[in-house]
Formats: sequence, C-alpha cells, structure tokens
Amino acid sequence: MTTTGVGWRMTREVVFFESLFRSSKWTWIFGWTFHAALLLVVLRHLRYFQEPVWLPVALIQPFGTYAGFAMVIALGGLWGRRWLVDRVRYISTPSDHLMLVLLLAIGVTGLGMRFVAHTDIIGVKLFMLGLMRFDWQPLPADPVLLVHLSLVAFLMIIFPISKLLHAPGLLFSPTRNQTDNAREVRHVSAWAAALDKRP
Ligand code: HEM
Ligand code: HEM
Repeated sequence: MTTTGVGWRMTREVVFFESLFRSSKWTWIFGWTFHAALLLVVLRHLRYFQEPVWLPVALIQPFGTYAGFAMVIALGGLWGRRWLVDRVRYISTPSDHLMLVLLLAIGVTGLGMRFVAHTDIIGVKLFMLGLMRFDWQPLPADPVLLVHLSLVAFLMIIFPISKLLHAPGLLFSPTRNQTDNAREVRHVSAWAAALDKRP
C-alpha cells in the first residue's frame, strides 16, 4: 500500500522470484537456482577484468565453480520442462529453446575449460585487461575458449533484443512497481491524462 511496501515487494520478487514460487514450484527451483548460480559465475569471472582483484571476488572463487555445475543442471531442468510439460511445449517458441541452449553451451564450454581442456587463464586476463585499456594483447587460441567467448559475444548481442530483456523489464512492470492504492488515488498514464485535457 506504500512506497516502502513496493520496495519490499520488488526486492522479494528480484531476490526470491516470489510470484514464480507461488505459481510453480518446479520451475521456481530450476529457475531460481539457474539465476543465483549465474550471478555467482559472473562474479567469479570479475577476476579477469580487474587487477588487483577485490577481496569478495577472491573469496567467491570456489563457490563460482560449484555454481557452474548448478547452472548447467538447472538449465537442463528448464530445458527438460520445455519438452516434457505438454502445455509448456505448446507455447514454446524457437527463441525460448535458443536461450536455454545458448546458456547451456556457455556453461558446458566453461566447465570444459575448468576441468578438461585447460586454457591459459593468465593470457585470457591479459587480453581482457588489454581490451579495457586500449592495449591489444594476444588471445590464447584454444578452441574451447574461442567457442566460449563467441557464444558469450552472441549472448550479449541478442540480450537487448530478446526475452533476456526481462531482467531490467521486471522493474518496469506496473503490477509490481505501483502502490496498491487504486481506491484512494486514480492512476492515470501520461498519455491518457493528455487526452483528458483536450478541449
Ligand atoms: C568475456 C567474458 C568471459 C570470459 C573472458 C570467460 C572466460 C572463462 C574462462 C577462461 C573460464 C575457465 C576458468 C578456469 O579454467 O578456471 C570460464 C569458465 C566458465 N565460464 Fe566464462 N567467460 C566469460 C563469460 C561467461 C558468461 C557470460 C558466462 C555465463 C553465462 C560464463 C560461464 C562460465 C562457466 C559456467 C564456467 C565454468 C565454471 C567457472 O570456472 O567459473 N562465462 N570462463
Ligand atoms: C534482475 C535480474 C533477473 C531477474 C529478476 C530474472 C527473473 C526471472 C524470472 C522470474 C524468470 C521466470 C519467468 C517465468 O517462467 O515465469 C526468468 C526466466 C529466465 N531468465 Fe531471468 N532474470 C534476471 C536476469 C537474467 C539474466 C541476466 C539472464 C541471462 C543472461 C536470464 C535468463 C533467463 C532465462 C533464459 C529464462 C527462461 C527460462 C525458461 O523459462 O525456460 N535472466 N527470469
């Protein structure tokens, strides 16, 4: 009913996916695990982009590795849901599958580098710092790394023109960000208010 209440509701939604929890427990388990793991994985990657490395980023390193596995398993669950649940399969579009497969492939190539075909991570870090400081350095040419980075580049390209935009979009969702005081205040959108003012 209040602005503070909206802040609290928004926080619960972003941190715990409250409305998804209410609607489907299975989707929530896989969906929430995937997002939490992705966050840890991305935080773990920060070490390639900073020197010196912040203490929290250094401390998070081992958790980031476990999170890599959690992310891949959860994505597998989300993808399985799109095939196995009839009503979900019916409404799934190619792009729904594409996002899950893309993120899965990024996770699998990442874990591949971590555990199977190691890459020169010092070289990767020098390359990334070089990019940020306009000081071009050679990129290690391991195939798995090149696939990992190409897929990441593709993810970044499609992010602003795909359903991945739900991340910032959630914050603009009226059912989440408006105070629930429709009986006290009449909410009129800017364009409708302008119509009201016409002579
Ligand atoms: C330019 C950005 C990125 C670079 C330079 C990069 C590079 C790397 C490297 C070098 C590894 C191997 C780590 C090791 O051997 O210890 C790795 C692992 C991994 N990457 Fe990336 N990556 C990037 C972006 C991403 C993104 C956006 C995701 C997720 C969507 C991701 C997911 C993973 C996962 C799950 C692992 C395995 C677990 C781990 O070691 O953290 N990467 N990445
Ligand atoms: C503030 C950040 C984010 C929030 C709060 C958020 C929230 C959510 C929620 C609640 C869902 C479930 C929707 C539903 O099934 O009803 C979802 C789905 C999804 N999210 Fe996010 N998300 C965020 C960021 C991201 C990012 C950065 C990525 C990937 C790079 C991502 C990838 C996905 C994918 C692929 C799905 C669809 C899973 C499926 O239904 O098969 N999200 N997100």
